[in-house]
Amino acid sequence: MSQHKIEDIDLAEQGKLRVGWASLNMPILASICEQFEKTKPFAGRRIGICLHVEPKTAVWVQTLMAGGAEVSITGSPKTTKDDTAAWLVKECGVNVYAWNSETFDDHLENIGRVLDDDPDLIADNGGDLHAFVHDKAEYQHLQQKIIGATEETTTGATRLRESYDSFYFPTLVINDTQAKRIIENRYGVGQGVIDAIMRATRLLMGGKRTTVIGYGFCGQGVAKYMRGAGAHVTVVDLNPLAQLEAHLEGFQTATLEDALPDADIVITVTGRSGVLGMAEFGQMKDGVLLCNAGHFEDEMELPALREQARTQETLDQHIESYELLNGNHIYLLGEGNLINLAAADGNPIEVMDLGLALQSLSLAFHMEHPKTLQHEPQVVPYEIEQRVASLALKAWS
Ligand SMILES: NC(=O)c1ccc[n+]([C@@H]2O[C@H](COP(=O)([O-])OP(=O)(O)OC[C@H]3O[C@@H](n4cnc5c(N)ncnc54)[C@H](O)[C@@H]3O)[C@@H](O)[C@H]2O)c1
Repeated sequence: MSQHKIEDIDLAEQGKLRVGWASLNMPILASICEQFEKTKPFAGRRIGICLHVEPKTAVWVQTLMAGGAEVSITGSPKTTKDDTAAWLVKECGVNVYAWNSETFDDHLENIGRVLDDDPDLIADNGGDLHAFVHDKAEYQHLQQKIIGATEETTTGATRLRESYDSFYFPTLVINDTQAKRIIENRYGVGQGVIDAIMRATRLLMGGKRTTVIGYGFCGQGVAKYMRGAGAHVTVVDLNPLAQLEAHLEGFQTATLEDALPDADIVITVTGRSGVLGMAEFGQMKDGVLLCNAGHFEDEMELPALREQARTQETLDQHIESYELLNGNHIYLLGEGNLINLAAADGNPIEVMDLGLALQSLSLAFHMEHPKTLQHEPQVVPYEIEQRVASLALKAWS
């Protein structure tokens, strides 16, 4: 059996059913899997992955293994499906270091465990694998060993571009593709976030005054789907062009200060830290539902909220109540983690089929074209995006 640190291996049977359903609905990866079985682009190589450990990711892991890869994987705090983790270990022999209740410190240890397995390629989500290889002496040897990498998300790409002058290998940024931005961030996150809020609260969305903070690709989706469910949506964005776009789409636009006091639901999705602090929490109405769809929970200053709240209580699986000094209550959903993963199942299956197809072909590109790319974060080659879009069109239309 593989190396692993997971919640409970006996959950594997349950995981099998969920992975099975996902794989039935991932025709793009199925087609790439067929190709990889013949070409074996990863023969003898280990891929180190940081991506939410859940059924769609498991189907992707199988695709990479069909291409000859050995895989080590970790996820993010609160987003791991423990049954999927068990299935990956028991059925596929994958090295899995992930469990649902892990803390951020556990997460960083798990990043180290993936790198301790000496990967030849890395597939990152948020930039932690990259940060360890670039910053920590014990992983310095990987700076030369790693052939290439991918980075999945907006936050990770920004972090890589802002943090490093010298980069040791080429990283293809999946989020830079129009395909991912439009289909995953807009439609996938939009549907997933509202699904999660409804599951977590079992409340009616119709008529709820909702403030969406951040009107990038993800925020556009969240605003669109909330409106579709009957909510009155107000958009807040620092960028006047984004505000203008929201206005032309028929949304209310406002400053944060004006948008908070009336809101029944507040959703952050900016990719930036410290968007909501104690001053903003104090402006919210009693009983507001607060959640985050951006990559890191630090969009909200939760340590300050936890420290300064008069009382703190868990009301339901995904709902915590914080009583402020002014007597108002804030109901925080999913502990501030990515709500669509914390309280639901992440992006819809077809959407991840497309995103993970981009990942698969990008990793194969590193193997098939070694030493051709600059050592820096960069866009996915256009032909990959075109190929995946054609496969998606064929499968979905
Ligand atoms: N929940 C998920 O499954 C999921 C999926 C993909 C990406 N993400 C994450 O969602 C976040 C947003 O991604 P995106 O692709 O929409 O990014 P984006 O860059 O397209 O949009 C972010 C928007 O937020 C605005 N903004 C930044 N700081 C702000 C502030 N303080 N107040 C108001 N607006 C502000 C920007 O002007 C921009 O319009 C990132 O953290 C990304 O990693 C989450």
